[in-house]
Amino acid sequence: MTVKTRCAAFISGRGSNMMALVEAAKAPDFPAEFVVVVSNDPAAGGLEWAAGQGIAAVAIDHRPYGKDREAHERAIDAVLETHGVEFICLAGYMRVLTPWLVEKWQGRMINIHPALLPDFKGLHTHQRCLEAGHDRHGATVHWVSSGVDEGDIIAQAEVPVLADDTADTLAARVLVEEHKLYPAALRAVMSNLTKL
Ligand code: GAR
Repeated sequence: MTVKTRCAAFISGRGSNMMALVEAAKAPDFPAEFVVVVSNDPAAGGLEWAAGQGIAAVAIDHRPYGKDREAHERAIDAVLETHGVEFICLAGYMRVLTPWLVEKWQGRMINIHPALLPDFKGLHTHQRCLEAGHDRHGATVHWVSSGVDEGDIIAQAEVPVLADDTADTLAARVLVEEHKLYPAALRAVMSNLTKL
């Protein structure tokens, strides 16, 4: 029987990448399971979906913590502890993490970014790609390190940029690939971890 690593997904919004991960993890031979979905935004659409899947769905609103980002993350970390989480997938989590959380989960936390890193770190990647005139765009799954969108690359998926693309049409084409890339990358990471 496949031993499944206990994973958390962090989201801030609709959570379509989290959904793709959860669906993929239903396969009996998938080496991970999602035991909790955490959001910094109580209104994140993905929370309700996760709860409907029987997964613990926890909102820890960042706003009451003000500028104390580490205190917010310590509250999240306590939830992870409660659920015996071993690995984190950031899936559209739109907050920059503190060095405290990054260090604590070093080697056990990955992220998906909607660009072909090292191009277009940060926000508005699709619009910036169009403005730069690139003919290829895509998504990257990478390890989380202290620099934003700077950790080692695990896997990438490319899409063409079409002449009549808007940021929205390009984002939609990239998102289709994200939903395939993230589960595949997680599976690969898990197989490597168990080999260590
Ligand atoms: C995805 O495109 C993801 O790559 C991106 O946000 C979107 C979330 O969509 N993440 C980042 O920009 C992280 N800096 P989703 O909530 O439907 O998965």
